[in-house]
Amino acid sequence: MRGDFYMEKLIVMDHPLIKHKITYIKDKSTGAKEFRELIKEVAMLMAYEVTRELPLKKVEIETPLTTTESEVISGKKLGIIPILRAGLGMVDGMLNLIPTAKVGHIGLYRDPETLEPVEYYCKLPTDVEERELIVIDPMLATGGSAKAAITFLKNRGAKNIKLVSILGCPEGVATIHKEHPDVDIYLGCLDEKLNDHGYILPGLGDAGDRLFGTK
Ligand code: PRP
Ligand code: URA
Repeated sequence: MRGDFYMEKLIVMDHPLIKHKITYIKDKSTGAKEFRELIKEVAMLMAYEVTRELPLKKVEIETPLTTTESEVISGKKLGIIPILRAGLGMVDGMLNLIPTAKVGHIGLYRDPETLEPVEYYCKLPTDVEERELIVIDPMLATGGSAKAAITFLKNRGAKNIKLVSILGCPEGVATIHKEHPDVDIYLGCLDEKLNDHGYILPGLGDAGDRLFGTK
């Protein structure tokens, strides 16, 4: 994806398909079915970018015409970690491209008064310390939820973590850069700012509610 915007540790997608789909994700007239499909499709396109550095190894194969040397991914162990609940909307898209990844779940919700994350569930692959982990959540707003999820994973031994969000804002990026400077952040779109209630502007509203039809 040439033209992606790279700052140190921040990669913002710059692909026409992603821009097009995110426009419809943001549009309030997009219904739940289409919203879910678009979140899944953008997650799949972002999986392409986040796996760009996977190591390869040489193998010998036979084509119908001859023997040749070619390359395959060299058995890197991956883990996909959705932050519940909205992160669930990105899992299938990621798994479409990385079907052998294990999936761990971290349940967090943001207290509407304090905006602080509250943990309510966790089930991770047993070997998180050996895996390259991709934390997924459509929204990086204050960054509190992602920060807590990453701290949680590091406390269980995880060493290699990337964060993938569909929408982010400067405040959330700054939180992760400050608290977890080793973590690469991949954003589908970097929006302008947070409003007084911690919502991203222009944003898409509440990702979990729009995915699951709740209010
Ligand atoms: C949303 C979103 C993120 C979090 C982002 O989840 O999916 O997890 O808010 O905000 P932050 O960066 O300020 O922490 P929410 O708490 O609404 O829970 P839900 O996914 O269950 O709807
Ligand atoms: N969570 C959301 O779902 N949307 C926002 O804009 C911020 C946090």
